[in-house]
Amino acid sequence: MGIPSDAADPLYLQLADRLAGAIRTGALGAGDRLPSVRQCAREQSLSVSTVLQAYRHLEDGRVIEARPRSGYFVAAPQRRLLPEPEPSTPPADSLAVDIATLAERVMQAAADPTLISFGAACPAADFFPEERVRRALSQATLRHRAVLCQYPQVPGDEQLRRAIARRALAFGCTLDPRDIVLTSGTTESVGLCLQTVTRPGDTVALESPTSFGFLQVLQALHLRALEIPTHPRHGLSVDALELALRTQPVRALLAVPTLSNPLGASMPLAERRRLAQLLARHQVPLIEDAIYNDLAERDEHRRAVKGFDADGLVMLCSSFSKTVAPGLRVGWVDAGRYTPQLRRLKAALSGGHSTVTEIAMADLLTQPGYEPQLRRMRQAIARRVDDARRQIADSFPRGTRITDPPGGIMLWLELPAAVDSLALYKACLDERICIAPGTMFSATDRYRHCIRLSVGGPGDEAQSRALRRIGQIACAMAREGLALAA
Ligand SMILES: Cc1ncc(COP(=O)(O)O)c(C=O)c1O
Repeated sequence: MGIPSDAADPLYLQLADRLAGAIRTGALGAGDRLPSVRQCAREQSLSVSTVLQAYRHLEDGRVIEARPRSGYFVAAPQRRLLPEPEPSTPPADSLAVDIATLAERVMQAAADPTLISFGAACPAADFFPEERVRRALSQATLRHRAVLCQYPQVPGDEQLRRAIARRALAFGCTLDPRDIVLTSGTTESVGLCLQTVTRPGDTVALESPTSFGFLQVLQALHLRALEIPTHPRHGLSVDALELALRTQPVRALLAVPTLSNPLGASMPLAERRRLAQLLARHQVPLIEDAIYNDLAERDEHRRAVKGFDADGLVMLCSSFSKTVAPGLRVGWVDAGRYTPQLRRLKAALSGGHSTVTEIAMADLLTQPGYEPQLRRMRQAIARRVDDARRQIADSFPRGTRITDPPGGIMLWLELPAAVDSLALYKACLDERICIAPGTMFSATDRYRHCIRLSVGGPGDEAQSRALRRIGQIACAMAREGLALAA
C-alpha cells in the first residue's frame, strides 16, 4: 500500500497503515472479512467515523472491498498483467518544440463523434453530473440575471474562490481566496503562469513523456523544452532534475505530480517535499498542474507540492474539466509570489471570466453531493481501466508494456519496437478508431513505438471490440516488422 504513517498522520491513516501491514504480511488474506466498523472502533478505541474513513481509504486503494450488506473484505491482489514501461531517458539538452500540426490532427479526430475514440483525455459523459450542472446553471441565470449585463472582473467570483480554497485543503494547501485567480481552464492558467515567469527563448523543464498541450503552449510562446527522466509510477526524477538545474539555464518547471499525462504517474509524498526544497534552493518556480488530483485513488497522491512550498515559488493550476464539466471552462490558479503580475496579465489579455458560470460552479462545489460524486466517479473509472488493461493483455502483441496508474483514465503502452505508432494511428483511423501516437508527447523524436489510450469512454461492446482491433493491427505490424528484419 505504501501509506507513509507516523505519529503525525491522522488516526485514520495510522489505522489504515496497520491494516495494510496485516494484509501485506498475510495475517489477513484475500477474501478474509474485516471486523465490522463498530467492532473495530471498540477494539481500537477509535470513533466509528475514523474507522469508516480508514476502511474507505483502503477501499479507494483497492486493498479491501465493500460487499453490500456483508461488510468489508480483503481484495484479491491486483494481477500485474503486463510489465510496466521502463523509466524514460530523454536527451540532456533542451529543444525547440514543433509538434502542433500532429497534435491538432489527432485532437480533431478525437473530437469526431463518428469515431470510437481513445484519443482525448476526457471521461465519458456518463461520469459527469450533467443534470446537476444544468440545474446549477439555470438557477444562477435566474437568481443573478444582473451579472449577465455586467463585465466580469479579475480575479473572479468571490464565492467560487472561497469554495476552491476550502477544497484545496484536501490538496494539503492553505490558500487565501484573495490569491486565487479564476480562468477559463487549466490551459489558460498554465499559459498565464508561463508568460509571467518566462521570456521567449527561455528553457522550461517538463516530465518526459509530457502532455502535448504543454508542448503546444511552449511552441506558441517560443519556449524551449527540457525533458526530464520520468518513472512510469513515481513520476519526475528529482535527482535528474537536480542535475539539470545545475547544468542548464532552467527558467521554470512545468509538471503534473499527480496522475501525469500521459503516464498516469504520481510522485510519492517524500519526493514532493524534496522537489519543493530543491526548487527553493535554486529559486526556480514550479507551475504545478493539479487537474487530476481529485481523481487520484489515494489521499497522499491528492496532496500538492504547493503544500510544501514555503517560498511562494509554486504556481498551482487546476480546473473542473475532469470532474464536473469540461464544457463550463472554469479553472483557477494561485500563483504564489507571482500573483500580482499574473493577475495584471490576465486582466490585460482576456479580462474576467463568465460570472454566471462561476456562480454555478460555486454552487456545485458547495453542495453536499460533490464529495460522494467524486468517490463514485473514482470507483467507476477504476473498474473501466481494469477491464481495459485485461482486454489489452489478451489482445496486444507479446512484449507490450503498460502502465498501472493509481487513478485517472489514461494508459501508456510501450509496444514492440517494430510497431510505428504513427502508422498504427493511421491504420486505426482507417477503421474509424482514434488513438494518440507516442510522438505527440515529446519535443524529441522519442516514443515512436508508444501510444496513449484514454479508456474512460462508454466501456461498451463497441469500445471493447475497437480495443481488441487495435491490438490485432499492432500484432500484424509487429509480425511484419519481425519478418522484414529476418
Ligand atoms: C495535464 C493536463 N492539463 C490541462 C488539461 C486541460 O485542462 P482544461 O480543460 O482545464 O483547460 C489537460 C486535458 O487533457 C491535461 O491533461
